[in-house]
Amino acid sequence: MAQPHTITHPLWTVVGEGAIGLLATAQLHQAGFPVQLHRRTVGPFDFVFQSAGQTQHISLHIAAKHPYSFILLPVKAYAVVDAVQQLLPLMAEDAQLVLSHNGMGTIEQVLPLLKPEQGLWFLSTSHGAFKPDHATVIHSGKGQSVLGALNQAALAQQQSVEETMQAALGPLVVMADIWPALWQKLAVNAVINPLTALHQCKNGELSNGKYNAAIELLIEEFVLVAKASGQDFSNDSIQSRVAQVIRQTADNYSSMQQDFAKGRRSELEYITGFLLKQAEQHQLQLPAHQAIYQLLLQKSPR
Ligand code: PAF
Repeated sequence: MAQPHTITHPLWTVVGEGAIGLLATAQLHQAGFPVQLHRRTVGPFDFVFQSAGQTQHISLHIAAKHPYSFILLPVKAYAVVDAVQQLLPLMAEDAQLVLSHNGMGTIEQVLPLLKPEQGLWFLSTSHGAFKPDHATVIHSGKGQSVLGALNQAALAQQQSVEETMQAALGPLVVMADIWPALWQKLAVNAVINPLTALHQCKNGELSNGKYNAAIELLIEEFVLVAKASGQDFSNDSIQSRVAQVIRQTADNYSSMQQDFAKGRRSELEYITGFLLKQAEQHQLQLPAHQAIYQLLLQKSPR
């Protein structure tokens, strides 16, 4: 008699306890993928997961099993390098590491830290999740994700990484070249996030005509610096993408608005700051991004 076929998935380690990390953890757990959490404190971790009107209590062990072979690192851009430095001694020689955050600039920092057999990936997601308290995560908006390999070593474990990320934060589009998708997401974040942080408003407010001129300028300058960095976008395609995200997330507060409202560190340096650094390298001026950057810097927590 034929034996039932059981698929065994490798153990994944999700780092931190941010909303996207817990969303991915909960969805992996529900789909039967082995998953553990890497957190600052040791011991079991219980949390409540709410999605599509269902509530589930999830009980996990805190990462006891090293070395880590498969890691999802969904932490803010400014925390990535420190987190990777701490993880390096715990990582397998051929570990696969998936970064996921808003903004750009970390990939260049992380690649040189890895060993030749360690794979690096980036996952960009539009899923919405938030934590009303430290042990509850609410899946507030069903989105999708884009995944891409960033070095040769990543290709060795392609199937396993893709399958797991599909279960964690799918539906998933796998891209041979993820850079255009990262730049397009950067455009959205470089317009919506700083404007909503500065004016302390919901994303939807930006469709009120009074922001049109600022949005147009920010997009024009973005297209210029993206082109100089090898990414060709038309003004129109970025305009319509930004307008679409504003519409789809009209009722949300952007992550940067929330960071400023709560006096937390923001991803400004990895969004507008990244664009300004690229512009400097290409001897370009971005007066609108520069102005909003200076205004937000003055309001940033010290
Ligand atoms: O950073 C955010 O809040 C999100 O990436 C986005 C798309 C701007 C929606 O709020």
